[in-house]
Amino acid sequence: MDQRLHNSYFLKACRGERADRTPVWLMRQAGRYMPEYRAIRAKTTFLGLCKTPELAAQVTLDAQRILGVDAAILFADLLPILEPMGFKLTYEEGEGPKIHNPLRTAADIGALKAPDPRQSMPFVGGAIDLIRRGLPGDIPLIGFAGAPFTLAAYAIEGGGSKNHIHTKSLMLGDPGAWRALMQHFTRQITDYLLAQIEWGVQAVQLFDSWVGCLSPADYREHALPWVKQVIAAVKGKVPVIYFGTGTATLLPLVFDPALGAQDTQPDVVGIDWHTPLQRGWEIGAKAVQGNLDPVCLFAPRQAVLHKAAEVLEAAKGRTGHIFNLGHGILPNTPVDNVRALVDFVHAGLQA
Ligand code: CP3
Repeated sequence: MDQRLHNSYFLKACRGERADRTPVWLMRQAGRYMPEYRAIRAKTTFLGLCKTPELAAQVTLDAQRILGVDAAILFADLLPILEPMGFKLTYEEGEGPKIHNPLRTAADIGALKAPDPRQSMPFVGGAIDLIRRGLPGDIPLIGFAGAPFTLAAYAIEGGGSKNHIHTKSLMLGDPGAWRALMQHFTRQITDYLLAQIEWGVQAVQLFDSWVGCLSPADYREHALPWVKQVIAAVKGKVPVIYFGTGTATLLPLVFDPALGAQDTQPDVVGIDWHTPLQRGWEIGAKAVQGNLDPVCLFAPRQAVLHKAAEVLEAAKGRTGHIFNLGHGILPNTPVDNVRALVDFVHAGLQA
């Protein structure tokens, strides 16, 4: 890898090395809260945007440049990987993603297609290529995918869900079918991440956004083994960030040597704002990402910076902190507050 990328603040922190300043990027840093995003988005549908490399690249590059963050993230989404497998996906205005033929039975699982993401999602490669050419030479690009459980929850429920009733019914009622589904998604996700790495990303984040709905016992049995498989396949190539919400009781299992975690620990653990940031290091992570409550950004400037200082304080004296939010930026977040936050993190805590 290019030395400037290798020595970037972000990748140093991913490796748990001491960096001269705390790197910062923000989940969903490109999105509707930004007028530049809305202008590009007005030209096409959300899926159209994801599938047009020139536009997707521009969204990623705009966000990195406007905010001055230490890493860029590929503009894409968790769910388009489901389309080539046979799911009918749309994004409804104001409602979020919808799958019109949700998966409910073992027969549905048998009918899933398994195309190579390199061939079925070439637009992602196109976007990565354009982004890498447009980024400053010292700014890494983060790729991402949904983790097997979270992807399955969408595929089964057909969209976002409060109680995940269909997902848990299948998981608990037909463990064989669940295993087959997890195996299928794990292969697809792994190939997709490996493709992103070949196409040129410097790190990957695995989003397990909905895994917090599981008890620790169910997580350990029905979700964690597949997370580990994905991480094992990618680890050593680029740093892996593992993020979920509501994971305070689950993350220790990810790092537990008694559960064979040695080869499958993520390089970086993402912490949501319900969990103290320090827990990341306490459970054995070398690098920890997080964890400002994204809603803080709606408060007056001084309050935003006060809460940001608390996050920096929590990481003080530790190496490997990547400043981020505890979940994605929300629509309507004031852009000026986001920029002030990034500047504040870069200035660091004053003694
Ligand atoms: O800037 C970035 O972080 C890169 C792009 C990115 C998007 N989605 C763009 C997007 C990333 C990394 C994601 C991840 C994602 N997508 C997650 C995991 C993060 C999380 O919040 O837990 C999830 C659960 C999804 C699924 C998804 N996509 C939902 C629930 C929605 C609708 C709700 C919403 O926020 O709009 C989307 C749509 C989406 N993904 C938009 C963007 C910019 C907005 C779509 C629009 O322009 O209308």
